[in-house]
Amino acid sequence: MNKKIKDQQLIIASHNKGKVKEISDLLSEYSLRVSSSKDHGMVEPEENGSSFEENALIKALETSRYCSLVALSDDSGLCVNALGGEPGIYSARWAGPKKDFLKASKDIEKKLTEFGSSDYSAYFICALAICWPDGKNKVFEGRINGTLTFPPRGKFGFGYDPIFIPEGHDKTFAEMDPTYKHKISHRSKAFELFSKELLVEK
Ligand code: IMP
Repeated sequence: MNKKIKDQQLIIASHNKGKVKEISDLLSEYSLRVSSSKDHGMVEPEENGSSFEENALIKALETSRYCSLVALSDDSGLCVNALGGEPGIYSARWAGPKKDFLKASKDIEKKLTEFGSSDYSAYFICALAICWPDGKNKVFEGRINGTLTFPPRGKFGFGYDPIFIPEGHDKTFAEMDPTYKHKISHRSKAFELFSKELLVEK
């Protein structure tokens, strides 16, 4: 059985400001000292896995080894059913080096139009990997289904939030109050599994 993570330093293995903010918010009710791999001067490891789970593990393992501390990573992305799950694990790469998610969103819309598809269903996946300096690790996964909408709507969140309407709602993630998004998102679902098993409330 894995040890509970309590009263210690935990590194968020990410250079993505939006993700670090969301994960830090989720961790705020636990007695942990949180920082990011960027704060520790680490360069981002190459994500060459073939699944969200594999990529999450690569990031958590390398960060934990580099910092000699417990590391938590998130690998996530948007999967569009009519595009066979694309962009999927390449969600960040579709936005290019300038992290232009407006362009990436337009590319998704263009592909759907080219395919003549009326199926705009999509889902976000989040794989959270936790890794200890001795290499022990565990992965938790969360998913939220929804529908894509174009043009993008809303000013909150990050990445593909402005084009994603979660099931049972009429607002995009980017139109929702971030605290509400945190309650229902793929990330919060994975986080719930993780926190129930490994965290202790303040
Ligand atoms: P990676 O996990 O660092 O490879 O990046 C995943 C990419 O998926 C992010 O850069 C975002 O574009 C997208 N993504 C993941 N989670 C979310 C989310 O909650 N909202 C919007 N986009 C997301």
